Amino acid sequence: MRTKSLLLAACFSLAFAPATVAQTVAGSGIAPATVSNSAERAIGFAANAPEGAALAILTADSSLPAQANALLDASGREAVAAAVKAAGFDGSAGTTLSLRGIGTRPRILLVGTGASPTVNALAEAGGKVAQEMKSEAHPIAIVGSFDGAQAADVGFGFAIGQYRFDRYKTVGHKIPATGAVTLVSADPAAAQAAFDGRSKPLADGVRLSRDLANEPANVIYPDSFVARVREAFAGVPGVSIEVLDEAAMRKLGMGNIVGVGQGSPRGSRMMLVRYRGAGAPAAPLAFVGKGITFDSGGISIKPGANMENMKGDMSGAASVMGAALSLAKSRAPVHIVAVAALAENMPDGNSQRPGDVVRSMSGKTVEMINTDAEGRLVLADANEYVAKAYAPRAIVNIATLTGSIVGALSDQYAGLFSRDDALADRVIAAGKTSGEEVWRMPLHKNYAERMKSDIADIRNSSGDGPGASLGAHFVGFFVDESMPWAHLDIAGMNRSSKSTPLVPKGMTGFGVRLLDELARSGE
Ligand code: BES
Ligand code: MN
Ligand code: ZN
Repeated sequence: MRTKSLLLAACFSLAFAPATVAQTVAGSGIAPATVSNSAERAIGFAANAPEGAALAILTADSSLPAQANALLDASGREAVAAAVKAAGFDGSAGTTLSLRGIGTRPRILLVGTGASPTVNALAEAGGKVAQEMKSEAHPIAIVGSFDGAQAADVGFGFAIGQYRFDRYKTVGHKIPATGAVTLVSADPAAAQAAFDGRSKPLADGVRLSRDLANEPANVIYPDSFVARVREAFAGVPGVSIEVLDEAAMRKLGMGNIVGVGQGSPRGSRMMLVRYRGAGAPAAPLAFVGKGITFDSGGISIKPGANMENMKGDMSGAASVMGAALSLAKSRAPVHIVAVAALAENMPDGNSQRPGDVVRSMSGKTVEMINTDAEGRLVLADANEYVAKAYAPRAIVNIATLTGSIVGALSDQYAGLFSRDDALADRVIAAGKTSGEEVWRMPLHKNYAERMKSDIADIRNSSGDGPGASLGAHFVGFFVDESMPWAHLDIAGMNRSSKSTPLVPKGMTGFGVRLLDELARSGE
């Protein structure tokens, strides 16, 4: 088929400009034009709630904070108190009460935070406001008893809670732009500074990751992933970008990733984004993400049901880029390199087969048992390259690697695998702080037995056994024992089928907040 269309193209190029042919990826169809998502509300800070804005009041219990009481007259306060009592609203975390017809405010939404809310609880309250008020026609003011830093935390939650991916809806689904949201606090300048310094860059990173993963695979493939990420980093200081195309990877001996991508007309890529902040150490921390832009399984083809979700099999790559964007935009004093191992896993006459043996960049050989165990292959070559070319002080992998981890941990935790207890502890701590939690899973050395090949150094699947651990073992087999290394299996976390305050339904951007926190926490 490809040869035929190339021949046709060659004939046509006598009459038509060859440039047109060169720009077309075989079999890409007619992708929808890239339009934008519904407008997000601009987020600002002020000492007072603007006239006419709908109020969102964050409260720890059944009483209103003084800042909210000050905005209501006596009859307004009475009306709210009566409604609170009648509804049994007690301000516990996650509860809401929506009121209309009180005073001059178009709407009053009470949002419970529980007593002494943490940073994450404040963010969740902000996200709750964003989602409950997404169709509110008026501007919004968020009021509570928070200082500047806390107002920024609420603003962060609002920013990632209002995310939506509706850019391809053309028939009457767009949410109209409905005005700004104002976070009210006694120190708006401090709030704005905290927001600009950390919250906004982090929200930008989460948005980048979600957008990349939500995009269908006819829009985001290795080369267009690279182009989108380049765009996101344009003008951000301290950043350098390296991209390897297929010819470069072949030359470097990356038989693993070349093998995975060889059934696709869309060329594989490896993208490395380095960011070094002022005063950061010479050796970077490497974040290596699985970037399978579509995982059909290849010749070991997946069943049809839910295969569309495999457009998100590049979520690890998307999240390492999101974390890098956050760190760079906030000028964090860290040194990181984010690596996206990008390929499309497709069945084709040119695909690799079960039984094939390839040589990885490390020189170790792999027998393919199942072409659907492709993520571990691209990670192995990416880890090898970054270890050689960037001499990192540690490597953290993030990948939608196995269905097995979904069975074990569902959508509560990412699986963490590491031979290094100190690094594992730091990842666990960063998970708790960021709110993107991980659970450590075993990596027993005896698992090696199950992955032995009769004819090569290792096989890429054992068929049965502890799947997530065996996948992790495979990746670890290619990482030098002296290199601190951790692997995160996020197959249960990268997509959500229901909305929570910080994570609207769809691709979650999981890992951006975790890796951002890990880098800042000094590891
Ligand atoms: N991308 C999949 C893993 C996955 C499954 C992600 C479900 C998200 C949801 C991965 O490439 C894969 O196919 N893994 C196989 C490995 C097996 C063939 C050894 C799996 O988990 O079944
Ligand atoms: Mn697969
Ligand atoms: Zn996969």
